[in-house]
Amino acid sequence: MLRPRKAVLKVKEYHPPLGGRQGLRLDFNENTAGCSPRVLARLGALGLETLAKYPERESVERAVAGFLRLAPAQVLLTNGVDEAIHLLCQTYIEPGDELLIPVPTYSMYEIYAAAAGAEIVGVPAGEDFRFPAEALLRQITPRTRLIAVATPNNPTGSVAGESVLLKLAEAAPDAALLVDEAYFEFHQKTVMPRIGSIPNLFVARTFSKAFGLAGLRAGVLAGCAEQMNLVRRVGSPYSVNAVALACVQEAIADTAHIDGYVTQVRRGRERVQSVLRELGIKFWPSEANFVLFLIGEQRLAFVEAMRRRGILVRDRNSDPGCAGCVRITIGTDAQTDVAIAALREVIGELSGANAPLVVTRTSLG
Ligand SMILES: Cc1ncc(COP(=O)(O)O)c(C=O)c1O
Repeated sequence: MLRPRKAVLKVKEYHPPLGGRQGLRLDFNENTAGCSPRVLARLGALGLETLAKYPERESVERAVAGFLRLAPAQVLLTNGVDEAIHLLCQTYIEPGDELLIPVPTYSMYEIYAAAAGAEIVGVPAGEDFRFPAEALLRQITPRTRLIAVATPNNPTGSVAGESVLLKLAEAAPDAALLVDEAYFEFHQKTVMPRIGSIPNLFVARTFSKAFGLAGLRAGVLAGCAEQMNLVRRVGSPYSVNAVALACVQEAIADTAHIDGYVTQVRRGRERVQSVLRELGIKFWPSEANFVLFLIGEQRLAFVEAMRRRGILVRDRNSDPGCAGCVRITIGTDAQTDVAIAALREVIGELSGANAPLVVTRTSLG
């Protein structure tokens, strides 16, 4: 009988919706307004030749390296950050090695690392989902080969500062430290300038969030040139397709478009947080384009009531430490108006129902 590797049987199944997401998409932290018009113009002008040829990434990789103020040898374009995570696991993890992550966090670290045979060492976030720097440092062992830190983190929106990240890199010289900056544009703090001087540091960025290109699948992995040479060995030379390459080049040239969108998201984030505060709903202050808040036992009714109003939000109940939590993505000013009106209505409606809406975290256990 055909059997998979043992590691495959240990991989948790991950089931994001792969269809049917109609309405205002405040559930997956994507850009809700769309990419730069320059990208659309380039798409419209693509010729047969672009589709007929294998993708030519070199010039785009050079442009992206320039955009990030890095050398081309330090930069690899990837099929989203997901591929970057996958490549790091393939490059550094032997069966029995350890992936060290704070939890809750983005699911794909665990999935790719487990598929490579890693043991997953999850360190619970501190009080109010603070980055558990000391606890992570204590969990480093000679088998720790990958440490993955999303900052801002998903689904909490909390961040890890540069000094603790550098401490982690220093304390685990035999591990790759991946700093996942998928939400960088909404926070604007980065360790990218450290690339090249810290041999085990990698930084990932994506075109899926602020840039509005989640459907194209394009991301970046940056690291020191020697290590990036090794990472390149395990990837496909063509994992970023020619259409994505053409679009990425336009996207990075239109920073004004991104700045305008990010300004609205940051403004919306403050507005949503202040409405939640006013309504007595516990939330965790976020540096990303989403906010996590606590609804409690009525979370499914909440998600459904928002859906009936045409707004998709994400139930995060099953993430560690997130019982009763829901996450909402922040979009443009106009979308935030719509979201806030719906939030007020739904919370009002559910507060009138039998079960109490406002619950404390401790009451959820
Ligand atoms: C922290 C984090 N990293 C990476 C990703 C995925 O990025 P990409 O679309 O570039 O694969 C996500 C998507 O939700 C995320 O939250």
